[in-house]
Amino acid sequence: ASLKPFNTFGIEATCNELLSFNDEQAIQSWLRDSQPDIDSLFILGGGSNLLLLDHIDLTFIQPNILGIAYQEKGASDEVLVTAGAGVNWHELVLDTLSNGYSGLENLSLIPGNVGAAPIQNIGAYGVELKDCFVTLRAVELTSGEVKEFSAEDCQFGYRDSIFKNSLKGRYVITQVTLRLSKKLQPHIDYAPLKQILADKTEITAPIISQAVIAIRRSKLPDPAKLGNAGSFFKNPVITVEQYLTLQNAFPEMVAYQIDNEHYKLAAGWLIEQAGLKGYRQGDAGVHEKQALVLVNYGRATGQDILNIAKEVRDKVLELFGVQLEPEVWIIGEQKIF
Ligand code: EPU
Repeated sequence: ASLKPFNTFGIEATCNELLSFNDEQAIQSWLRDSQPDIDSLFILGGGSNLLLLDHIDLTFIQPNILGIAYQEKGASDEVLVTAGAGVNWHELVLDTLSNGYSGLENLSLIPGNVGAAPIQNIGAYGVELKDCFVTLRAVELTSGEVKEFSAEDCQFGYRDSIFKNSLKGRYVITQVTLRLSKKLQPHIDYAPLKQILADKTEITAPIISQAVIAIRRSKLPDPAKLGNAGSFFKNPVITVEQYLTLQNAFPEMVAYQIDNEHYKLAAGWLIEQAGLKGYRQGDAGVHEKQALVLVNYGRATGQDILNIAKEVRDKVLELFGVQLEPEVWIIGEQKIF
C-alpha cells in the first residue's frame, strides 16, 4: 500500500498492508481472527510526526475512530471531553472552542490525530497535552484487552510518554479524555503570543487560538503545501554546567531554564547559527522561516531528508558540542543516521 497520502512529509513510501478500524471491537476481532505477530505491526495516527523510508516491511493499522462527547461536571466550571483516536486534533480544538470551553486554545493547528497526541505529549506555546489530560483507552495488541491509562500511567515528559518507551508499539490508543473549563485560565507568557495579544481589550480562548494560528502560519510550513513533520529535532536539554560554558562562548544563545539543574536550548537557533537555515540539497531542505523544521520541496525521498538531518546534526555537534535527537519517528531501514 502507498503511504504517500498518510504522511505529512509527502514522501513516497510503501508498507505491506494498511488496515483501518472504525471502533475498538473491530480492532479486537481482527486481533482474535488473525493473531498477528505484534512486531510486524505499526500503528499509524495522522502521519504528521513520521519520516518513512522506502518500503516498510510492516502492516500499518490506523484507528479511524471518530466522535466527540462532552460531560459537564455539575456546578463546577470543569468539563470533560472525550474524543476518538481518529479525530483530527485541530478539529477537536475548534469544536471545544465553539462550545465555549477553554483549555486547548494554545494547542491550535497542531497537525495529527487525537490518538497520537498523548504518545509524544504534544505541546506548544507554554501548554502540553499532559496539562489537561485525564485518561485514555487503548487496546493491548497481544491480548486484545482494553486498558485505561491515567496521566500517571502515561509517564508524560517533554515530547515523551510510556508509549514511546516501555510500551512502544504495544497498544492502540482508541479514545482520549481531556479536562476543559468554562472559565479561561490564559497561558500567554510565550513572548510572541503576549505581543500579539498586547493590544486586545478582551482575551478569550478563541482570541488566543487565533493568535496561536497566526504565529504558527507565520513560521511553520503548511504540510498541504510543503511537506514537513513540524520540528524535526527536539530542543536539547543540557546541564547547568554545559549551559554556562556555552553561554560564555555564545552570549546570544537562546535557552530556557527548566529546573535548578537543566536548561533547554532552542535547537532552531543552533541550526540557524550553523548557517543552515534555508539550506537545501535537491528537494530536501531546512525551512527558511524555522530552522528546526525540515521540508520536502517535492520529490525528496525519506533518505534525502535523513541525509540533510544528519548534516544538520553533525554541524551542530561540531560547532556547539550539543547532540540533537530527532523528534520525528524514523520508520524503515536506515542507511545512515
Ligand atoms: N530560533 C532561531 N532560528 C530559527 C528558529 C528558532 O533563532 O530558525 C530561536 C528564536 O529565538 C525563537 C526560539 O528559537 O524565539 C524558539 O523558537 P520557536 O518559538 O519557533 O519554538 P521552537 O523551540 O523552535 C518548539 C516546539 C514546537 C512548538 C514551539 C512553540 C519542539 C521540538 N518544538 O519549537 O513544536 O510549536 O516550540 O511552543 O519542542 C513540533 O513539535 O513539531 C513543534 C512545531
